[in-house]
Amino acid sequence: MNKDELSFVVAVLEESLKPYRSVYPSHAELPDVGIERQAILDEMSAMADAERDHWSTGRASGAVYRGDEAHMEFMSDVYRLNVELNPLHPDLWPRATRYEAEVVSMTGSFLGADRSSTRNADGGVAGLMTSGGTDSILTAVRSARDFAAAERGVTRPSVVMPASAHPAFDKACQYFGLEAVRVPVGLDGKADVAAMEQAIDDQCAMVVGSAPSFPWGVIDPVTELAGMAEGRGVWFHTDACLGGFLLPFMAELGEPVPAFDFSVPGVTSISVDTHKYGYGAKGTSVLLFRNKALRRYSYFMTTSWAGGLYNSPTAAGSRPGALLAQAWAAMLSAGRQGYLDAAARIRATHKRIRDGLEAIGEIRVLGDSLFVLAFTVDGFDVYALQDLLAARGWNLTGLQFPAALHLAVTLVTTEDGVAGSFLRDVQDGVGTLRNEPERPSVMAPIYGLGQSLDTEVRLEDVLTGYLDVQFEV
Ligand SMILES: Cc1ncc(COP(=O)(O)O)c(C=O)c1O
Repeated sequence: MNKDELSFVVAVLEESLKPYRSVYPSHAELPDVGIERQAILDEMSAMADAERDHWSTGRASGAVYRGDEAHMEFMSDVYRLNVELNPLHPDLWPRATRYEAEVVSMTGSFLGADRSSTRNADGGVAGLMTSGGTDSILTAVRSARDFAAAERGVTRPSVVMPASAHPAFDKACQYFGLEAVRVPVGLDGKADVAAMEQAIDDQCAMVVGSAPSFPWGVIDPVTELAGMAEGRGVWFHTDACLGGFLLPFMAELGEPVPAFDFSVPGVTSISVDTHKYGYGAKGTSVLLFRNKALRRYSYFMTTSWAGGLYNSPTAAGSRPGALLAQAWAAMLSAGRQGYLDAAARIRATHKRIRDGLEAIGEIRVLGDSLFVLAFTVDGFDVYALQDLLAARGWNLTGLQFPAALHLAVTLVTTEDGVAGSFLRDVQDGVGTLRNEPERPSVMAPIYGLGQSLDTEVRLEDVLTGYLDVQFEV
């Protein structure tokens, strides 16, 4: 790809990301006089209507975890009642501390807090809320770094993680000055315990396992990995951002879920997202620590600022208390039975789609996930299949190493007709590829940039362009 071709790609992106430029006036500057509230609401409402079909019909992977109108209304009502909340001022809004403490405690209650073997000695599981999975991971890595420095004198800290672990761990390493050590996974997509063991040295500050990892949705062997870390005094983090609100309930329904929570000796912290399968609105996650003393590694405080005494647990200062309220309300309104029912529906839809995909000769499903469908198509360019599905409204994630597609089943996918139309569309797409085996795709050349040396443009340039476009008016 050369620079002209990059400009073309960015222009195409611009058109798809900025559809309102031609419909509404752009506000590059403040309007001189405030616009009528009703007019603002009308414009927002029209944009929301224009976008609704993209996500509400179950055709977008993992973007919306629960989208029924009654739930959305309830979340809006909860927000309305808590608009002014900022947990940075707990004296003004003690209800914010109630929401946070109870969300943390309820989350720990189904992630093995009561089965923690150290519970009597250390007082048991403690936690806090963050702005999302990435924030929970950033906070965990920073805490592990400081723990390793304090307890083991580690000065060149690293994070040892399977290749499948979320990029939030790389981001944490980049932000906080740790070395990111990625270890290839086994053929089943899970962490390779022996290879991970080889990668751990005396500077290792954290070992990571996922329950499950994003790409194939498979669960790493947490018991083995955490045991190995514990033997070396190293912090072990289970990333259950994606599965923390599903797997415990699937286990209760009899599904084969390997242990990944605080019942496993050596698990030091767990990230778990209320804004995914917890069904809260976007902007919250829970970070759990095995005990209170470990949580203190996340605290920041200063006693020498002219503005007064200051403390806060995460990167944020002020935090949106209304979002904590939404997580609290979503959990209370679902209850254990709600999460069990959701897990059962998601599991059944996943099985149905998986069986249907496996019945299509060329399709190969990757990994033994309980709710993610990662699949490739033998003999054809899988990204060409992605384009064909996109033309029918499906928004799937493109995976690489190997090239594959990813659909995370959520409650939206379990709605009537979604699984059937997905299978029909995949079947039709594969039919098209049988007739046109060399059909080119949009994404293949872009992913290909990662491998090609004789190109003016790097994959990073494409990603930079993608972000730059988003910030333009
Ligand atoms: C396994 C896993 N960890 C972490 C994250 C990051 O979560 P967030 O996008 O909320 O920052 C994700 C997001 O999909 C994930 O799947």
